[in-house]
Amino acid sequence: MMELLTAEQLDKFTVQVAGLEHPRELIIDLLRSVQDNHGWVPDEGVALVAKILGLTPLEVEEVATFYDKIFRQPVGRYPIHICDSICCWSRGGDALATHLREHLGIDFGETTADGLFTLLPSCCLGACGRAPAIMVGQNTYGPLTTDDADRIVDALRQEAQG
Ligand code: FES
Repeated sequence: MMELLTAEQLDKFTVQVAGLEHPRELIIDLLRSVQDNHGWVPDEGVALVAKILGLTPLEVEEVATFYDKIFRQPVGRYPIHICDSICCWSRGGDALATHLREHLGIDFGETTADGLFTLLPSCCLGACGRAPAIMVGQNTYGPLTTDDADRIVDALRQEAQG
């Protein structure tokens, strides 16, 4: 298993926790760090975060499952969140989602056989002015045509090969 947290991260978070009145403030930061290192957050990651913060695993789990950008199951190297909220939906988001499902040959919640892409429906990505929008990692893209989406996918494929 890949490392959940580096020694440096462990030190940094331990110092931060000691100075906080409410250590739970760090739940998302810790979960994100585990996810960045490991690709997703396994049960051991939830247990580790709970231990660092002095919380129960259930308290961490409640936060982890609330946020759709925290993955509690393995995902592809590039999880693609497709916005299905009203602005994007009314500006072609549905067709964009259908196109990406066909282009990648997977449905929502599935990962391509090469392990690169996972498609995930998402509520508003905060980019309504750029509808229809998708998010890959920390990057938000929009407004997108189906050709734009294909170019993004192709660029990520090339990046993975590079
Ligand atoms: S509705 Fe799609 S980004 Fe807000």
